[in-house]
Amino acid sequence: MGQIISTSFDQSTGAPYPFLGQVLITAQEIEQRVCTLGEQITRDYQDSEHLLLLGLLRGSVMFITDLMRQIRRPLTMDFMSVSSYAGSESTGFIRIDADHKTNIHGWDVILIDDIVDTGYTIHTVRKLLLERRPRSLKICALLDKAERHRVDIPVDYMGFSIPDEFVVGYGLDIDEKGRNLPYIASVDLEKYRKS
Ligand code: PRP
Repeated sequence: MGQIISTSFDQSTGAPYPFLGQVLITAQEIEQRVCTLGEQITRDYQDSEHLLLLGLLRGSVMFITDLMRQIRRPLTMDFMSVSSYAGSESTGFIRIDADHKTNIHGWDVILIDDIVDTGYTIHTVRKLLLERRPRSLKICALLDKAERHRVDIPVDYMGFSIPDEFVVGYGLDIDEKGRNLPYIASVDLEKYRKS
């Protein structure tokens, strides 16, 4: 029998990453919000026979796996992997690295992402998916930086609206670090440069 090791991090000090600023959204707040979103989706899709949660890798992984457990309907899960062409700042040019496997024609699709920032990613993927003639297509994002939007995005299910700060945790990263935090925290960029 393996030893049981606590996986909880100390939210007051920001361990184990030295570059964290403040905890903006606690693990408990995320849990409650995800539960509410799951209830809403359950209600909205009572008549759906082919419901697909389509997550964008990699940021959406923690969110989609928690959310799907709160949806009391039969559903299927699939993923796409997409990336911006250059740098950390979205460019508006999105590359599809891996496509979903499900034939979504006639399906009720909910596109799931961790964050809508400029909106280019969701905007581009949404356009592509609509060409594949789903029965319906909705957008679900855990976080929304509305003041950063560069395109008009209908976010149908939104977890939290956040200010224009660099954040990590619950799937979100800075240079691939911080995804495993169970909460959302701001990054202290000064500390990050020194770390
Ligand atoms: C992040 C995030 C969104 C996108 C949001 O993905 O997960 O998909 O950027 O930005 P936008 O609204 O400005 O387009 P990233 O390319 O960093 O990949 P990741 O999911 O693997 O972290």
